[in-house]
Amino acid sequence: MDPSSRKRLLLKVIVLGDSGVGKTSLMNQYVYKKFSQQYKATIGADFVTKELQIDDKLVTLQVWDTAGQERFQSLGAAFYRGADCCALVYDVNVAKSFESLSHWHDEFLRQADPPSPESFPFVLLGNKIDVHGGHRVVTEKRAMEWCASKGNIPYFETSAKEDRNVEEAFLCVAKIAQTAG
Ligand code: GTP
Ligand code: MG
Repeated sequence: MDPSSRKRLLLKVIVLGDSGVGKTSLMNQYVYKKFSQQYKATIGADFVTKELQIDDKLVTLQVWDTAGQERFQSLGAAFYRGADCCALVYDVNVAKSFESLSHWHDEFLRQADPPSPESFPFVLLGNKIDVHGGHRVVTEKRAMEWCASKGNIPYFETSAKEDRNVEEAFLCVAKIAQTAG
């Protein structure tokens, strides 16, 4: 085994998805256990880190939050490169955010240019499942079909607001990030 790979416990994750789907909220819930109703658009990108123990390894997960709003997307290929996993997020109540997923997926691969794009680890998060009253427009089945079509991407239905499945989703991210080539 290459000694440098054994020591490499810093994993870089990029979170992508349309504006307003809850990328920042999911990260704040995961790392700080906080949720705010207020929307404040992310400008450019920033990262937070979280340490977690996976089996016998101490992993530092470096999670990069990005801007969904096009006018704030100032980052290019240099930023995506070296990523170990990409977490895609959509809002289960907003069809457009689901329809954008293929764009985010393909654009990530184009810019990150990983050595084996066909096996690069992605995770999909369908967020805001707490919103009730007939707003939901994307079914779990449809989301899972999309995941299957992209090579069996793991899928989680989440709520950053109610802290549902957030820990589970990021644990999966950390686990599969270790498989990136
Ligand atoms: P950009 O930074 O513009 O790309 O947006 P974003 O994807 O980071 O979205 P953000 O986390 O800022 O959330 C947008 C809005 O949705 C905020 O008002 C949040 O309070 C709200 N929100 C986020 N997650 C949830 C959730 O799980 N449930 C509910 N009900 N609201 C949420
Ligand atoms: Mg944001």
